[in-house]
Amino acid sequence: MAKRALITGITGQDGSYLAEFLLGQGYEVCGMVRRSSTVNFERIAHIQDAVTLVAGDLLDEVSMINILRESRPAEVYNLAAQSFVQTSWNQPVLTGETTALGVTRMLDAIRIVDPEIRFYQASSSEMFGKVQEVPQQESTPFYPRSPYGVAKVYGHWITVNYRESYDLHASSGILFNHESPRRGLEFVTRKVTHGVARIAAGIDEKLALGNLDAQRDWGYAADYVRAMWLMLRQDRPDDYVVATGETHSVKELVELAFAAAGLNWERYVVIDDRFLRPAEVDLLVGDPSKAESTLGWERDVDFAQLVAMMVEADMALVKSRLG
Ligand code: NAP
Ligand code: GDD
Repeated sequence: MAKRALITGITGQDGSYLAEFLLGQGYEVCGMVRRSSTVNFERIAHIQDAVTLVAGDLLDEVSMINILRESRPAEVYNLAAQSFVQTSWNQPVLTGETTALGVTRMLDAIRIVDPEIRFYQASSSEMFGKVQEVPQQESTPFYPRSPYGVAKVYGHWITVNYRESYDLHASSGILFNHESPRRGLEFVTRKVTHGVARIAAGIDEKLALGNLDAQRDWGYAADYVRAMWLMLRQDRPDDYVVATGETHSVKELVELAFAAAGLNWERYVVIDDRFLRPAEVDLLVGDPSKAESTLGWERDVDFAQLVAMMVEADMALVKSRLG
């Protein structure tokens, strides 16, 4: 019989790639979706017939208990969250409810319905925040710099706590930034590649950005979802950093993306204070050696390939909308 997995956040970037990957591994895939007045299944439209969508919300524990009772998954991947750092200053309580307490609700639902379920928690390099060492690894102390980062620290530790308290197979993947042509338009990589495509098409004249000096360890989302699955293949649950080991500034991203379209970024980029943050994470660079040696994980796509892929996809998208 095929193994069944439940993905929360299936309509998001990672959820869509993970669903594709698990279907390819022969899984039956259930995806938890929250009610909205308009359907937003764009990222999973191509696999919608192959997955089962079930209604639930991380704010509502009963909905998750019912989903687990009805779907009986062997694995749960908790990818749902309020995931945009900037929004977390405007909606700190909602971010805490979803991104922090939502994890406890799901862990509790698992404990109540079936403690044999294997659990993956989408933890984040934002937990390292004002970094205490370079590069960051599993043992690096956390120093979050945003309500989102604080909420993710809670989500991480409650996962560890339920593992230790109830012997759940609950693992936490500390994933560094990962991007793709399916990335939300508000995140800097996609904002830049989509902005480049619009400028190249003559639609926009300028691209307004915030801090160009911030440095991130950017990888490709499709590579990173494989690591999630590998974590649940291990006999023992654990925490793993998933990263490329390289860091690049926002400025480097901008230079590369504009150059890919034959444009000089300095003619188009303007700095707008609205995109600066009350507290910044200046430098992230992860050490993925534990994931590589224990899980056998490796990435296929590097930073330059990622930027080229995203610019190309956005050029095609903008062109198709014009035509
Ligand atoms: P994303 O594209 O923003 O997707 C977030 C998903 O969560 C969407 O499907 C969204 O549903 C769902 N969601 C939000 N609030 C919910 C609620 N109350 N109940 C149920 N579902 C809810 O995020 P992503 O980039 O795929 O990231 C996936 C996870 O990894 C997140 O937890 C994120 O914080 C974490 N993470 C991401 C990165 C990264 O670089 N991408 C790095 C480290 C950790 P709607 O479609 O209905 O909005
Ligand atoms: N979004 C955005 N928009 N960011 C900008 C801009 C802009 O106009 N200009 C500069 N930046 C800088 C931000 O200040 C930040 O330092 C960096 O670009 C990356 O911002 P985002 O792409 O919004 O991502 P993030 O690093 O804050 O958060 C992402 O990665 C985390 C993992 O470290 C999200 O995916 C989180 O959910 C994830 O946990």
